[in-house]
Amino acid sequence: MKKAVITTLVLFWIGIGAFIVNGFMNPGNSPSAPVGTTIHSPLSTLPPTTTVKLDLTELAKHSSSTDCWLLIDGYFYDVTSYLYAHPGGGTIVPSCGQEASQMFVSKGGRGAHSQNAWNELAAYRVGQLGSDAPTAAIDQVKKVAPPTYGGAYEDD
Ligand code: HEM
Repeated sequence: MKKAVITTLVLFWIGIGAFIVNGFMNPGNSPSAPVGTTIHSPLSTLPPTTTVKLDLTELAKHSSSTDCWLLIDGYFYDVTSYLYAHPGGGTIVPSCGQEASQMFVSKGGRGAHSQNAWNELAAYRVGQLGSDAPTAAIDQVKKVAPPTYGGAYEDD
């Protein structure tokens, strides 16, 4: 009788042990699926990451005062939210959607921008020419708050 009880207890604990080990070997997938089975995790229901190819065709799509991208030294910048804060007023707008390195470096012929201007520019960087930028990252740049110093640009 005592032997039967001990045997039952031993078998019980072996069973519990096997159950736990199986759980560790197949996390999130118990009972174990046959090899080759597609496991549908909740993550696979998320939308796929979309990206935008940063080429000159894409640049040209952002050529207005309500959607203004610049290409400066090989990088794309979305400066739309900065236009109204720009101390140089509307001088950026004709360069929207274009390669604007020379315009930026020379302030359109008025001399060099300060180091501060370069620092501010960095906040609007979307990505490198030729790369694929995640749309989520592009959307983040749109939300960058411009500096609060008075801008001279008025849209009409
Ligand atoms: C590419 C087109 C651009 C042109 C033609 C341009 C032109 C100008 C002009 C004419 C001025 C004011 C007058 C002067 O200081 O002589 C100015 C000032 C300024 N701009 Fe621009 N700008 C451009 C883009 C930008 C961008 C993209 C930024 C920053 C995101 C920026 C930041 C500034 C700042 C901070 C000033 C104040 C002066 C300084 O710190 O250099 N500009 N700009």
